[in-house]
Amino acid sequence: MSMLKDPSSKYRAFPAIDLPDRTWPSKSISEVPIWCSSDLRDGNQSLIEPMDAAKKLRFFKTLVQVGVKQIEVGFPSASQTDFDFVRTLIEDGHIPDDTTIQVLTQAREDLISRTFESLVGAKKAIVHVYNATAPSFRRIVFNQDKAGVVAIAVNAARIIKHLAEQQPQTRWTFQYSPEIFTSTELPFAVEVCDAVLDVWQPTPDNKVILNLPATVEVATPNVYADQIEWFGRHIGRRDSVLISLHTHNDRGTGVAASELGLMAGADRVEGCLFGNGERTGNVDLVNLALNLYTQGIHPGLDFSDIDNVRKVVEECNQLPVHPRHPYVGDLVHTAFSGSHQDAIRKGFSQQDPNGIWEVPYLPIDPADIGRSYEAVIRVNSQSGKGGITYLLEQEYGICLPRRMQIEFSQVVQKETDRLGLEMSAAQIHQLLDREYLQATAPYALKGHRLQEENGTSAVDVEVVSEGESQHWRGIGKGPLEALVAGLPVTVEIMDYSEHAIGAGTYAKAAAYIELRVGGGRALYGVGIDENLTTASFRALFSALNRALAQAEAQAA
Ligand code: KIV
Ligand code: ZN
Repeated sequence: MSMLKDPSSKYRAFPAIDLPDRTWPSKSISEVPIWCSSDLRDGNQSLIEPMDAAKKLRFFKTLVQVGVKQIEVGFPSASQTDFDFVRTLIEDGHIPDDTTIQVLTQAREDLISRTFESLVGAKKAIVHVYNATAPSFRRIVFNQDKAGVVAIAVNAARIIKHLAEQQPQTRWTFQYSPEIFTSTELPFAVEVCDAVLDVWQPTPDNKVILNLPATVEVATPNVYADQIEWFGRHIGRRDSVLISLHTHNDRGTGVAASELGLMAGADRVEGCLFGNGERTGNVDLVNLALNLYTQGIHPGLDFSDIDNVRKVVEECNQLPVHPRHPYVGDLVHTAFSGSHQDAIRKGFSQQDPNGIWEVPYLPIDPADIGRSYEAVIRVNSQSGKGGITYLLEQEYGICLPRRMQIEFSQVVQKETDRLGLEMSAAQIHQLLDREYLQATAPYALKGHRLQEENGTSAVDVEVVSEGESQHWRGIGKGPLEALVAGLPVTVEIMDYSEHAIGAGTYAKAAAYIELRVGGGRALYGVGIDENLTTASFRALFSALNRALAQAEAQAA
């Protein structure tokens, strides 16, 4: 068994739709569709272990909290758990007034009756009936001709209308799906749907939902859009119909298909959170909603705490969400590569908090969906100075001068190569401490005394070297110049900078000095202390010790 040399002997291309005056390609999505979650039905039926009542209720409450107003809660005629769940929702008053539950039924009288039984006492409900309409299903699965398929749909529509009339206390909405719509001849799909509409007699005030499923995704998303636009032009009573999309993701383009379907005139979308559902899943409603959000349109769904929504979904479905999943994956707001980190860091520092979002590589502000900025930048062996600098700044208030960023990133790189692992902010900080703040050999600064008079500084320092105490004295125009004058070796200071860490009583000073000893390589030192002069002296000793250690290593 292997891939065919000529796949055309086994598979054929999906034919293009004859719609030369298609209008959808020049449209954009400007209106928010009606969202319908099918997590508790299509999503649930695809799980290795379908949800129990407690999980379904938890999921339902999360959907309500997010703001989904139409929720397909199950297939009550096919499952006792689903039947009981619908009863619990109704009897225990879990359905808010602005939320409508939806249930699915096959187009059979006994199953439709059982479905209506499950809905007794509901204030509002959508009854969703379907039958297969595609030629392969007519031939292979049901051995039905077109007339037989229309008869099944019409008969079911009549039964539904009749039973709804018997339960007038509920406000009913009817929904019909020509299953495998995408593989159904378009004129036939319209014929079946028109026949159903003839029975249900919808009006603009009491619309029927015609749900057009890509039960199996079989073509590029533009084909689906053509099918939706064609259907919208040919269906009768268009003003009394809500066209609903229901895409699956077999070719990995379920989101694109739904988006193009909306451009083609659809009013509603059915899908599941994070794309759970049969096989490759249903379209991901979160993805669709946040795609709209990042175009400046509020989707009417709230994912301000997306991680909590994911937690509920993962626990109820017992399926993990992939770390690269759009918007929600653990790694999707994270940059490892040095050039990306650099750009993101610059983007954050230049971003106007009230302006249009322009941070490179981040299509959404992670904070809008409850993600923290700390998670944005992570450091591994591919990372450069940008990420390291960002983490030290964000987590420890340490702002390395530019050339030191480059120097320290090489130190970090060596460590990540050695460990073969990502480094956390704490590990990077430890490395900075080890490499710079603890650079105390050959000379450890033990204390200093400073006298200043008429713009001249005199410095006395106590130093321990190889266990011996030494005393150095120097005089200069400022404390640092005085210290340099007192050193037993000649150094050139190439760069000096300082800044405060924190504020108020707990503020500290950080000082950075780059120096050269005897014309060798310039190296940085860092000093941190409550006192600025002490910090700068420590920085000088740190740089001196590193430079001397390096010179010694080179000589050896
Ligand atoms: O994918 C599908 O066709 C369905 C129908 C029942 C709407 O889930
Ligand atoms: Zn489906």
